[in-house]
Amino acid sequence: MLVTSYFSYKGGSGRSSLIYNTIPFLVEKLNASKEHPIILVDLDADSAGLSYLLTENEIKKEDPNFFTTNMLLNTKETIFSKYAAASRGTPIKPFTEFGLYEKFLPVGAEFGLNHITHGKSVLFVPVQPTKTISKFDGTSNLTISNFLKVCENYGAAAVIFDMPAGGQIIGKTVFEESDKIVVVMRITRQHRKGTIDFLKGKALGVAGEFIPLFNVVPQEKIVINGREFNLENVRKEVRDDLEKLRLELDSQGSECRFDFDMLNYDKYGIPEVKRFKFSEGVLCELKNDREYIFSNDEEEAYKAYEYLAEVIAKDFN
Ligand SMILES: Nc1ncnc2c1ncn2[C@@H]1O[C@H](COP(=O)(O)OP(=O)(O)OP(=O)(O)O)[C@@H](O)[C@H]1O
Ligand SMILES: [Mg+2]
Repeated sequence: MLVTSYFSYKGGSGRSSLIYNTIPFLVEKLNASKEHPIILVDLDADSAGLSYLLTENEIKKEDPNFFTTNMLLNTKETIFSKYAAASRGTPIKPFTEFGLYEKFLPVGAEFGLNHITHGKSVLFVPVQPTKTISKFDGTSNLTISNFLKVCENYGAAAVIFDMPAGGQIIGKTVFEESDKIVVVMRITRQHRKGTIDFLKGKALGVAGEFIPLFNVVPQEKIVINGREFNLENVRKEVRDDLEKLRLELDSQGSECRFDFDMLNYDKYGIPEVKRFKFSEGVLCELKNDREYIFSNDEEEAYKAYEYLAEVIAKDFN
């Protein structure tokens, strides 16, 4: 089972939109199905994003009949530890055999996936923003670990976390448990410098692979004060800084790795999509709409999202 988290040091870098757009490709590349679903978790408890994109009014229900992140982070909730203990050492079963399967919200159709064949291939754990999270502490971290064990024992293809921005406490376990950590930056200085400094402090205990990338990359020529803004220099600076960091971490005995495929991508990362400045969307879903005419930026972003899914799914398909 692949565990992936989408992280950014700064908020508003486009993490949620990136997950929203890479999920349909991950379903295909990881062969996800009702029996082996992708479990998507909105961990951004204090500033929910995906939950608004995927559940419309559902998250406002006061009496949820499905699992929520609020429950997952509630230290009194022991259900996952019980299931994790009960299923320890047992052979992997299909997810549909998990006793509480009906409590997961199927959202496959929201991504333009065929709702009969793939509607239940993506199961979502949303945040209920109106309910306060009881506590973020070490025990919530244990709950996350137990939740991952349950998902693994019941044959999930992947668990994907939309993390809060910056160094919130819940991030530590997720970092440690992730096989792949997509590190999302805009091209501006505060994103680049902040991300590298943050990783310097936090990457030591990580055993997985970081996938740094630039998001919302302008594709048109930008001239500032008569000089053309050079994306190649920006990319080189970040790659050099990360390369130095990698050597530093190696010398400290860290097991973490870096995959620079997205930094080397010929569009410098995920291109800016004009329509997303007005309204979020899933390009895969729009592609299914025969009436919709794809613009150039959408076409390029579609390819970049697919490539990112390929980079994430590498070694797991
Ligand atoms: N490729 C893109 N091109 C243009 N705009 C984009 C792109 N991706 C995301 N955006 C826009 O950027 C804004 C922030 O995106 P999003 O909410 O996904 O970021 P986030 O990192 O999850 O934010 P938060 O820190 O609040 O959780 C949104 O208005 C979104 O529509
Ligand atoms: Mg978000």
